[in-house]
Amino acid sequence: MVEHSNTRCDILLFGALGDLARRKLFPALYHLERAGLLAAGSRILALARSQTTTREVRERLFSQLRQHVKDRDFDPEIAEAFLGRVEYCVLDFSDPQGYHALREWRDEPNNELIVYMATPPSMYGVIARNLKATDCCNERTRVVVEKPIGHDLESSRVINDELGEVYRENQLFRIDHYLGKETVQNLIALRFANNLFASQWDQNHISHVEITVAESVGIEGRWGYFDQAGQIRDMIQNHLLQLLCLIAMDPPADLSADSIRDEKVKVLKALKQISPDMMDQYVVRGQYTAGTSDGKPVPGYLQEEGANRGSATETFVALKAEIDNWRWSGVPFYIRTGKRLPEKLSQIIIHFKPAPHYIFDPDQQHLANNKLIIRLQPDEGMALKILTKEQGLDKGMRLRQGPLELTFSETFEADRIPDAYERLLWEVMKGNQYLFVRRDEVEYAWRWVDRIIGNWKDRGEPPKRYAAGTWGPVASIAMITRDGRSWYEDA
Ligand code: BG6
Repeated sequence: MVEHSNTRCDILLFGALGDLARRKLFPALYHLERAGLLAAGSRILALARSQTTTREVRERLFSQLRQHVKDRDFDPEIAEAFLGRVEYCVLDFSDPQGYHALREWRDEPNNELIVYMATPPSMYGVIARNLKATDCCNERTRVVVEKPIGHDLESSRVINDELGEVYRENQLFRIDHYLGKETVQNLIALRFANNLFASQWDQNHISHVEITVAESVGIEGRWGYFDQAGQIRDMIQNHLLQLLCLIAMDPPADLSADSIRDEKVKVLKALKQISPDMMDQYVVRGQYTAGTSDGKPVPGYLQEEGANRGSATETFVALKAEIDNWRWSGVPFYIRTGKRLPEKLSQIIIHFKPAPHYIFDPDQQHLANNKLIIRLQPDEGMALKILTKEQGLDKGMRLRQGPLELTFSETFEADRIPDAYERLLWEVMKGNQYLFVRRDEVEYAWRWVDRIIGNWKDRGEPPKRYAAGTWGPVASIAMITRDGRSWYEDA
């Protein structure tokens, strides 16, 4: 079913001059315009503290769009038309008086109202209260908030309570932008539209699962934020656990938001807590030192601009997660993510168990398990590694492992893969919450991650070092080889 929306939306964009708005939100809205998905009459009110004007903001956005939208997708006329929808308003977010201007701007009360808080989470409660106090929102308003929701379970509860005082859960759209990636949604299609996999998706057939989200970039001027968070809060608590949930969840009854989220929550609840005595075997934390990236020398984490030289914040985490339920008992999920790794690469590898009885040459027995490789980025696609016979009269029944390959850009050549934020903004406009995170998901994820962070604190050990441009501390390799396995690096 191809989707269209004629819903006219008024978008209040808090933090409109910030990094997220510049790099992701405005380009995504531009693409929606280009695709004809912004209904006539939809408007955007850009809100920030800077004393500037609508004209200046439009000019600035024009050149930023030029920079962030690929040349082949950039059309100056469409950009002008899109920017015609944007107005700017100076606002001190904590001053209720200023909010009256927002109500006046809303000259068409029937337009859906979307509030996008591209601000630090500490502002969410203040903005929500001020919008309510000045009658700028109602029970139909949709509110979009960004991760991180807090820095632990307790602080996330405070933020969610503050939002909950003004909005019902079905008005809240908590973003985890990984859920907006086409290939991440493809996990749902792969698993639940292909019975071939459905019948193989459990501990009887799968030996283990690997999830890698590697980045080659370092901290990129975000030291202040990142040093408070570290890789476990920045990536594991949200993106990696969401991927794990999509791989591990039971089939939902339908595609509705709550059916999907109920199943994800069951996985999070079943995650085995990592106790202090398991830490050595189950978790590795690392921090990069000077090394190379793309062949050029780069500084270590502690030498980055603005760095606190004594920081013990981790830029890499590898861990072994176990899910205590019927489907996954005994199947480890090896997860790793880090900054300044050799390349940008997100992939999931499903390792299937070998056939129960092996009849080929003994020296090839190690080849005898199928792997499903799901490449989330770059080169989005999938490959199923299967075994065939080597060709040639002299080869007997020698085996060879080769892929059944699906690379989306080659197979579906004409289709542009939209950015995650395009999909997510579009779903907000349609009022569909299935790609957004429910409060209980956030809280169960924190509960699991808090335990690990607590164990780190108690042990007081610094992170293990790894040189920029390598795959993390050697301890991460040792963690998986202890189980007789290895990371799949056939990128
Ligand atoms: C963000 C993190 O949520 O995701 C960043 O805060 C990280 O630290 C980014 O770089 C990675 O996203 P993507 O889409 O580039 O894989």
